Amino acid sequence: MHQAKDCFQVHPGAPLRGQTIVPGDKSISHRAVFFSAIAHGTAHVRGWLPAGDTEASLRSAQALGVAIERHSPTEMTIHGGTLHKPEAPLNLVNAGTGIRLLTGIMAGQAFESVLDGSSQLRRRPMKRITEPLKLMGADIESTNGYCPLIVRPAQLHGIRYDMPMASAQVKSAILLAGLYAEGETLVTQPGPARDHTERMLRAMGADLTDTGTEVTLRPGAPLRAVDFTVPGDLSSAAFLVAAALILPGSEVTLTGVSLNHTRTGILDVFQQMGADLTVTETGLEAGDPVGTIVARHSTLKGVQVGGEVVVRMIDEFPIFMVAALHAEGETFVRDAGELRVKETDRLKVMSDELAKMGAVITETADGFIVQGPQKLRAATVYGHDDHRISMSLTVAGLAAEGHTTVLDARCASDSFPGFAATLQGLGADVVEEAIADA
Ligand code: S3P
Repeated sequence: MHQAKDCFQVHPGAPLRGQTIVPGDKSISHRAVFFSAIAHGTAHVRGWLPAGDTEASLRSAQALGVAIERHSPTEMTIHGGTLHKPEAPLNLVNAGTGIRLLTGIMAGQAFESVLDGSSQLRRRPMKRITEPLKLMGADIESTNGYCPLIVRPAQLHGIRYDMPMASAQVKSAILLAGLYAEGETLVTQPGPARDHTERMLRAMGADLTDTGTEVTLRPGAPLRAVDFTVPGDLSSAAFLVAAALILPGSEVTLTGVSLNHTRTGILDVFQQMGADLTVTETGLEAGDPVGTIVARHSTLKGVQVGGEVVVRMIDEFPIFMVAALHAEGETFVRDAGELRVKETDRLKVMSDELAKMGAVITETADGFIVQGPQKLRAATVYGHDDHRISMSLTVAGLAAEGHTTVLDARCASDSFPGFAATLQGLGADVVEEAIADA
């Protein structure tokens, strides 16, 4: 059992008001490190996310011999080129994106590597990447379908792979291995999984075409380092947007947020629920449209969520569940079974934790049903070492009656360093506290 050594003390009452930025996009930050590591030349990266997951990827790149000059937590220069055999297993800690992308890269190297992580990461399925990589000729030994993964040198060849699930991590692992393969690699996807890999590799000179349903990579074009400015993470912004929508008197402005279409499902669904949101594009960063989101307290109504939009908001379902409890009428989510294999089984964990706050949620195999609005009451809830659970429960606490304690809350910094401080800056009463060992 994980020892809870930290918590957020959450007192409701205050509206959220003001303007802020959110930390850099996690998906783009992992990719900026790995792609620059294997590119020719020097890349300057700004706006990088210094969080638990991405730091694990950065340390792995360093363990592979990549020279990285850190100018500040968010800014670095990466000297790419040839990777070298690491002296020890690469430890990706809790980072699912980190291990899956890096396995694709390792499959094409001339040395053996071992990829591993925390006990949480060791429970996440890896067959979804090892199977297609083996079809490409990769030599990978897993631990019954889980990490640690041992990756040995092998000659890879391109394949056509019809992904059974819409996963950007799987798609990216195959495309990255495809850079080292003989012949073309083609991946089809059943839904619009995030396309950062495609955009970034193309910007770096890869010969890649993307029709939205089919991505084709032809190896051979050298990957050239390019500078990246990482935009703000919409998945982090979603917690502040949801809090503003459900807390009376709130108005929050978030600037510099990525508005990549493969990520904005949550904004579309909130708007369908009647949310008072203004979204304005202001420019482009790392190939993504970037803009400002203004979110004001709103009377939300229940909504049906299923099909294509699910993958476009896959990381937002924990916070969406909190918002749905505050909407009038029924909210019905289907096609979201992937939530069961994230850092935790997010359908079960969120339903169970919110039940401690009095919520009535019907969990289904691939989603949930709630009848709203429901008034939550304070409770002591548990973050389960899952950043998005910890942050969603904190927002639930801000809208509850009484004083909520979120135990094991520090994992918020796996994707959103300074989450409690950002909420405080907007007027919320959230205090991070250390708890002495039991
Ligand atoms: C990510 C892809 C998604 C997402 C994860 C980040 C990425 O996972 O849930 O937080 O950066 O590629 P899947 O690709 O497994 O759906």
